[in-house]
Amino acid sequence: MSTHGDPVPLTARASGPLTGEAHVPGDKSISHRSLILGALAIGETRISGLLEGQDVLDTARAMRAFGAVVEDLGGGEWRVQGVGTGGFAEPDGVIDCGNSGTGVRLIMGAMATCPITVTFTGDASLNARPMARVTDPLALFGAQTVGRSGGRLPMTIVGAREPVPVHYVVPVPSAQVKSAVLLAGLNAPGKTVVIEKEATRDHTERMLAGFGAEITVEQTNEGRVITLTGQPELKPQVIAVPRDPSSAAFPVCAALIVPGSDVLVPNIGLNPTRAGLFTTLREMGADLTYENPREEGGEPVADLRARYSPNMKGVVVPPDRAASMIDEYPILSVVAANATGVTEMRGVRELRVKESDRIEAMATGLLANGVNVVTGEDWWSVEGCGAGGVEGGATVETHLDHRIAMSFLCLGMASKDAVQVDDSGPILTSFPIFESLMTELGAVLER
Ligand code: S3P
Repeated sequence: MSTHGDPVPLTARASGPLTGEAHVPGDKSISHRSLILGALAIGETRISGLLEGQDVLDTARAMRAFGAVVEDLGGGEWRVQGVGTGGFAEPDGVIDCGNSGTGVRLIMGAMATCPITVTFTGDASLNARPMARVTDPLALFGAQTVGRSGGRLPMTIVGAREPVPVHYVVPVPSAQVKSAVLLAGLNAPGKTVVIEKEATRDHTERMLAGFGAEITVEQTNEGRVITLTGQPELKPQVIAVPRDPSSAAFPVCAALIVPGSDVLVPNIGLNPTRAGLFTTLREMGADLTYENPREEGGEPVADLRARYSPNMKGVVVPPDRAASMIDEYPILSVVAANATGVTEMRGVRELRVKESDRIEAMATGLLANGVNVVTGEDWWSVEGCGAGGVEGGATVETHLDHRIAMSFLCLGMASKDAVQVDDSGPILTSFPIFESLMTELGAVLER
């Protein structure tokens, strides 16, 4: 795994226009869930378009350790032979989820109501991230946890032998926490109820319904109330994973800031719980259009066309949009640096507990490259330098964070001087073809 190996520095410098089509990989969130739900179904699930990034490969390996048969058939086609709800076997060794918070948290949920004991670990980034947000609700089902101080990995979870269903109000806006509770609820008898005050990505709910679970979602004054009836027999599915809007964000935003660019990014899922970045870019005045809008597999999909947009203006991004673009603030701040005026991003405390503290990592790197940034505990603002106005010239620390690495490489594509990242290795976790795809569009990336 290169995220554990020697650092791979990479430099981006100003290039000619970015043009052509960008076929980005499959959605990371849906890829993890396809493997996990496939492993919990009885029979053979077929998956096409799976993201073959390291995060998802680590989840595939974990599912094998729990007894599922997971086969790579080539070309993004995968086959999963599941063990059934509650059928996870106890793994022989430690489950290493690498860099993936989604992987580890969802798998913890899925095993917490099985009578097995599992030890989890990850890389330096994952082992620094908070897990109590997941293990606290899992304790309500009857699972026990012993981990490092601060609720951090490595950590051992003893699954509940006689799980009870749970009624849980998620205290932070987190699809990972919500999903962990729902996956645990799968093997508890009776109804598990999860309430989220703010809507977060809803792939778990949609996919559980697709796999045949009884699940309802109701919008009430309390928030979104999700009710899952436990111990269903999940039916295997044929899943076509849509392309990842969070990966599409990079070629889209690079095209907006590199002079003369015109890039088409086909087949992007525009689930409203994921599309906040595109709304924000359009508010800023980006020339970003949705072509050929359609429905695929119950999800809205379109081809995105992004053209160079020299007249973008700063905006205030409201807190209630945060969940729908939580992974996109780093690249939004790069666009904001190339706009005029100030972009203020509010209600984004969760950015501090991602693969890195993303407010800190972006602020430090932007300041080093000549962009003014002001930060608070749950907000930050970027003062735009205008189109092509960013100085660049600095090397940025990426802190094992793929999105920090890709964001600064995009910054370098439009800056006066080149921008270097100290380690591009983590990009392999979510967007393994980033370097070749961007180079084919016309970007200049140098090792
Ligand atoms: C994800 C949820 C988000 C997101 C992550 C993927 C998921 O995390 O940042 O990249 O697939 O559920 P939180 O739920 O912790 O906000």
